[in-house]
Amino acid sequence: MEKIAMIGVGYVGLVSGTGLADFGNEVICVDIDEEKIKKLKNDILPIYEPGLLDLVKKNVDKGRLSFTTDLEGAIKKARVIFSAVPTPSAENGEVNLSYVFDVVDKLAEVIDDYKVIVTKSTVAVGTGDKIIERLLSKGVSEDMFDIVSNPEFLREGSAVGDFMRPDRVVLGTTSEKALNIMKNIYRSLYLLETPIVGTDVRTAEMIKYASNAFLATKISFINEVANICEAVDANVQEVAKAMGLDGRISKKFLHAGPGYGGSCFPKDTSAFVKIAEQAGTQAKIVETVIEVNRLQKLRVIEKLLKFVPNLKGKTIGLLGLAFKPNTDDVRDAPALTVIKEILERGGHIKGYDPEAMDEMRKHYPEITYVASSEDVVKGVDAVIILTEWNEFRNMNLEYIKSVMKKPIMIDTRNIYDPQTVIQKGFLYDCIGRLIRS
Ligand SMILES: NC(=O)c1ccc[n+]([C@@H]2O[C@H](COP(=O)([O-])OP(=O)(O)OC[C@H]3O[C@@H](n4cnc5c(N)ncnc54)[C@H](O)[C@@H]3O)[C@@H](O)[C@H]2O)c1
Repeated sequence: MEKIAMIGVGYVGLVSGTGLADFGNEVICVDIDEEKIKKLKNDILPIYEPGLLDLVKKNVDKGRLSFTTDLEGAIKKARVIFSAVPTPSAENGEVNLSYVFDVVDKLAEVIDDYKVIVTKSTVAVGTGDKIIERLLSKGVSEDMFDIVSNPEFLREGSAVGDFMRPDRVVLGTTSEKALNIMKNIYRSLYLLETPIVGTDVRTAEMIKYASNAFLATKISFINEVANICEAVDANVQEVAKAMGLDGRISKKFLHAGPGYGGSCFPKDTSAFVKIAEQAGTQAKIVETVIEVNRLQKLRVIEKLLKFVPNLKGKTIGLLGLAFKPNTDDVRDAPALTVIKEILERGGHIKGYDPEAMDEMRKHYPEITYVASSEDVVKGVDAVIILTEWNEFRNMNLEYIKSVMKKPIMIDTRNIYDPQTVIQKGFLYDCIGRLIRS
């Protein structure tokens, strides 16, 4: 059992902190957001993540998990300090490390015995070295700490399962002592024979970016295939299925759609390009991936304009606002681009998402939010499915047609069979599939 402080209680910090407590460690989760900590102390999750609340309650009840805003107290009590603070994109696409360094500066003030300082946030390659330099420059002696890069690979929406049963754990460090402490923290995963990849810090930092850049590449690749399929009358779903049966390719991340979003791929691909640039080399593939993704989001609008050339005064219904199902996260969601483009053209929007409306309201308070998919479609000039929440998969098409002003559907997640929808009398478009009227 290790005493751990998890600094930053967002998607990653809360899930990882809870997961590490479930592995038998004693975890204090610390955040500067008092409201968030207050909620957590009252068993209210600040984020939507399936299965998380039960795991939080279980570990709080067992006395292994607690929440506080007292950073200094948490650092003093713990031997291992995880940092899971945000690393957003700076204006130029570079990763903004100011939150990471704020934590390091606080650590420098407080450290009075040996700590393992673990970076869970996704950080630029070389950040570990900068953390060491910063601590030393602030007078912390080198025998008082070791650093570890332990990047996180969980996916929002299935974060609990991903954390509890990861494909691998990456531990970047040059200290044998710190490596052994970390292995002990993750001991429960040994029993599941989870591969533990021990490496140096820079390589661990690079593994995270290379993994995300590769996954984003897969998505942009299949979106490009989808666009070609549309031009040559082929079906991207069948192409992807057959491709995915090839073990060298794998079927995951081969779903054509409105472009990737979320808190990771957009910022991590930009950072990847910057890392290459600053190192005097190039990331040509990933540069193109970013551009393909930008265009893919706009393609949704092109499809809409095909049916509704003038959006002025028209109301468009949006089904799904989160960047993917089972999360309330709207960071860089395709919905943000779609909303912006429609509003700029003088259109109105009615939107519904099972979990993400409060988050979207922070960006677009001016659009109309309704309580169900049935309400979204009432009286609208077209409807766009942007997130494949289960509840959108089997809607009553007859009802939708009867209440829409004009039965126009853009299905950016390919969840309906084109022929079925068209036979019901809809004008329908999707991504990369054959449309025969
Ligand atoms: N969200 C994901 O799916 C995911 C997956 C893998 C890796 N990551 C990486 O993990 C990191 C965190 O991402 P997230 O999505 O959990 O972020 P988040 O924005 O959801 O949460 C970060 C939390 O840190 C808190 N915080 C900021 N500064 C602090 C400080 N000085 N002290 C204490 N708390 C502080 C914020 O209040 C917030 O609650 C990022 O680097 C991200 O790239 C995210």
